[in-house]
Amino acid sequence: MNLVLHILYVLILSLSESLSEPSNKKFPENFQFGVATAAYQVEGGWSDDGKGVNIWDQFTHTHPDSVINGDTGDIACDSYHRYMGDVEMLKNLGVNYYRFSLSWSRILPTGYTNQINEAGVEYYQNFISALKENGIEPFVTLYHWDLPQPLQEIGGWPNPLLEDIFAVYARTAFTLFGEKVKNWMTFNEPKQTCLAGYGLGSAAPGISASGIGEYECMHTIMKAHARAYHIYDEEFRPTQSGRISIVLDTGWYEPASDSEEDMEAAERSLQFEHGWCAHPIYHPDGNYPQVMIDRIADRSQKEGFSKSRLPEFSAEEIEYIRGTFDFLCINTYTTSMVKWTNDYEIGTPGFYADVSVSTYQDPSWNGSASSWLKVVPWGMRKLLNWIDQTYNHPEIVITENGYSDDGRLDDPNRLNYYAEYLTSLLEAILEDGVNVSGYTAWSLMDNFEWTSGYTVKFGLYQVDFDNPNRTRTIKGSGEYYKNVIASKCLVDTCEE
Ligand code: NOJ
Repeated sequence: MNLVLHILYVLILSLSESLSEPSNKKFPENFQFGVATAAYQVEGGWSDDGKGVNIWDQFTHTHPDSVINGDTGDIACDSYHRYMGDVEMLKNLGVNYYRFSLSWSRILPTGYTNQINEAGVEYYQNFISALKENGIEPFVTLYHWDLPQPLQEIGGWPNPLLEDIFAVYARTAFTLFGEKVKNWMTFNEPKQTCLAGYGLGSAAPGISASGIGEYECMHTIMKAHARAYHIYDEEFRPTQSGRISIVLDTGWYEPASDSEEDMEAAERSLQFEHGWCAHPIYHPDGNYPQVMIDRIADRSQKEGFSKSRLPEFSAEEIEYIRGTFDFLCINTYTTSMVKWTNDYEIGTPGFYADVSVSTYQDPSWNGSASSWLKVVPWGMRKLLNWIDQTYNHPEIVITENGYSDDGRLDDPNRLNYYAEYLTSLLEAILEDGVNVSGYTAWSLMDNFEWTSGYTVKFGLYQVDFDNPNRTRTIKGSGEYYKNVIASKCLVDTCEE
């Protein structure tokens, strides 16, 4: 194709994408809709009633420069004191379930079971009961990035001891709350925990050791997840009859051209960004993806290490981790283009040097308040198909998807994001036969967006952070989502 034709083609393609109409097909009758939050992002009450300090308390208090405006989650949305208001909002939206996380240090202030904080336990018991009484199913994440600080003092996730310690915490949570909680998620986005926390140092606990730290961290988390799964399976499932999984995140990685090199580079990105944690659990072969094993071993050897920087699982461990899920959970927001490039030179080890690809986002894609989040609905459809094929047609729940802006009440960009992503989801379900059973909007309300503080807002409800009551008001997108849930339809009337 000559250049002019190519430009025209790209223009038409991007126009047709941005003008795409929401689907008028209906979601299947048993399809479930939810919304999500996480403890540190909404609860506040950081030192109330015996809660212990966690790595995000510590990070925001000791590294204020690392968070925009020096913001903290000390009060956040104050959900610790205002959870009944949250239940009202959930009821108003009509969600089938609410995905939230437990604050480990609110229940076990030291991280260990030597101290149990009764006030913390009571808080979650009351909250969970209120949800159930209002017909809202709790979807509970055990770990959404807020490690008790005493466990960081012994090294955090790269320390293999954390496998046992997490297993004890998980058993405690199943015992305390399992009678009412039927959907458990062990970890939220371990890639972010490990890469940002122990590799790049850009998030709590702020350790920069890329090429080593993130791999050691993930190794412990994979084993800790499997331990929690088996504990649930053997000790609790027979009486509690719930299900358990892990929440992984990835964008879609689209080859920049159909050349073999670019296609290989895009697949390699997916394997490093997603397969790293997905392959050991979801792939029938288990273990890390072969491309990671080979590349990291090769680079480690050239760098002069005596063995690969990627830790190895034993055959028993591979078997123990493989298949530890009842359904597949995925957080996904955006897409990147991938171009093949020469391998990065051998020098300082690092995760991105191990991947060695060049990624970019198309300047024609609509943006959001988050630099990384561009609106690319077709990317989600491709990702769902890739997951379906790569991991053997599992049941999938989208555990997060959403859009950020400045928090305005009239938010057509977020509304369009939902309409377009939900259209892609419907196409994946109805036309491609991907087995997606639930969709979760991030987030119920504006909240503490990690190192972006309160500058970036994802909520269906606005929160007034200047008001001590943290007043919540529904946004235009919230009204839209409420209608979608009630009608299972994205437009005014759907095909019957
Ligand atoms: C992923 C995380 O799980 C959540 O904590 C975060 O706020 C959203 N994505 C948006 O960045």
